[in-house]
Amino acid sequence: MLAARVNDHVTLDVYDSGKVGAFFDGYAIEIGTISTGAVKRARALREGLPIASLSPPRKATDQEIEALVRHLARSGLLEYCLVPPRGRELVAIEPQMQGYWPQAAKLRNSDTLVLSRFAYLRRRGSELVLESPRSPALFRIANPKLAAAIAALVTPQKVGTLLREKAFAGLALLGLLVECEILFKVGAKDEGLRASEGDEHLVVWDFHDLLFHTHSTEGRQANPLGGRYPYIDAIAPPAAVRPPWEGAPIDLAAHASAPDEPASSLAALLAERRSVRDFDEARPIRLAELARFLDQAARVKSKWSSQLDFGEGSIGPMLDYTSRPYPSAGSAYELELYLTVNHCEGLARGLYHYDADRHALVPIAVRTQELESQLSAASLGMDAMAPPQILLTIAARFNRVAWKYSAIAYSLILKDVGVLLQTLYLTATDLGLGGCAIGTGNIDLFARMTRQPFHVEGPVGQFALGRGRPAGVEGVPPG
Ligand SMILES: Cc1cc2nc3c(=O)[nH]c(=O)nc-3n(C[C@H](O)[C@H](O)[C@H](O)COP(=O)(O)O)c2cc1C
Repeated sequence: MLAARVNDHVTLDVYDSGKVGAFFDGYAIEIGTISTGAVKRARALREGLPIASLSPPRKATDQEIEALVRHLARSGLLEYCLVPPRGRELVAIEPQMQGYWPQAAKLRNSDTLVLSRFAYLRRRGSELVLESPRSPALFRIANPKLAAAIAALVTPQKVGTLLREKAFAGLALLGLLVECEILFKVGAKDEGLRASEGDEHLVVWDFHDLLFHTHSTEGRQANPLGGRYPYIDAIAPPAAVRPPWEGAPIDLAAHASAPDEPASSLAALLAERRSVRDFDEARPIRLAELARFLDQAARVKSKWSSQLDFGEGSIGPMLDYTSRPYPSAGSAYELELYLTVNHCEGLARGLYHYDADRHALVPIAVRTQELESQLSAASLGMDAMAPPQILLTIAARFNRVAWKYSAIAYSLILKDVGVLLQTLYLTATDLGLGGCAIGTGNIDLFARMTRQPFHVEGPVGQFALGRGRPAGVEGVPPG
């Protein structure tokens, strides 16, 4: 039996009157009101309400309960548990993505299954969890024998054989694991190795890179994220400046150049650069300024090709390269700029891709609601009064780097992002504009906006851009 229940962090209050509320993270929220006839079943959501009892609806209260359950699921307040008939709980399923709803793939005894190379078991506190960066949910394993049975799936196994294994307690768990891409189906003679799983974009991803990508930002994981000071009670704040070494210091100020020597324009730019989070809505950035900004910071300057040479006469294919204003690991230039334009004189609101080769902006149709979500997340990320005039999302074409580099691909991409961010900062400063890097972005929202799978081309950085509000002018709080 698969049942839904509120997760450990949530207290569900269902009053005799039918009023439903929830308490979590120190907040109380009102969920709504149900009819008194549905109260008992709503209360069952504390321990576990069988999902099969929700549909097809037989009574009017069934619809009410289903609406309540879906609402709680969308709000991230539910988890699910699988309990075999007359048995003890086998697994608990914790959603990692918004809107996850447990589904089981249909399986036949003749199907062959194997464990995904992205799946892993680990200890979390005193629990054992089965996870994968591809999976929209994680599985808390209640019985170590089940962990052993799952581990046996490192080589492909027939469903019929697996069903003889008592630990799986039937087909339901296997179906759920297949739907979550923790297990996948292979042909009878397929060993289920790297090339068999997913598309050619997935093949180039190393396990730890995809895990790092999904777990270091929002959208595909439910861990606490952001500036939450998790060790504030356990560890004293680390010093802002490293304590000095014991040796005798050589005072560099005594070796400074003559005070009347003019600062270089770079030194002046570095001195002037600041993160600007509030923008002048009365004087938005103009399209001509944006064009100059992109030309200076990110445009393709030249293109060239070179034959891949492994040495000792071994020659590979011809490879194409570009050169741009900022450095890039292996000259890969895997980073793309997407512009969420909120307020720019001469350019309509919307999402655009910057074609760095043609120095052109290409509009991408998106839902207004998605545009608004992205912009408001950006203002939240900066603790700003209003959304930026333009939000630049730096997206990586992962395979451009991973095709060449093993193990270090994702870390190289992040280094490239740092380099590009500073280039954007200095260019904005140089043009009298303002900007601010933003440390988090929702990779799933971007995937929905661009209709690209998250592992093909996805956000690795963001930068808010616009004309800064003149000093001393207060912002208008958003309405
Ligand atoms: C990688 C990176 C991520 C950042 N993320 C954020 C962010 O999410 N929100 C924000 O308001 N500022 C963000 N900043 C800006 C820093 O807070 C800022 O650079 C720092 O406070 C120093 O101030 P300054 O840039 O004005 O010199 C980020 C900066 C970097 C380099």
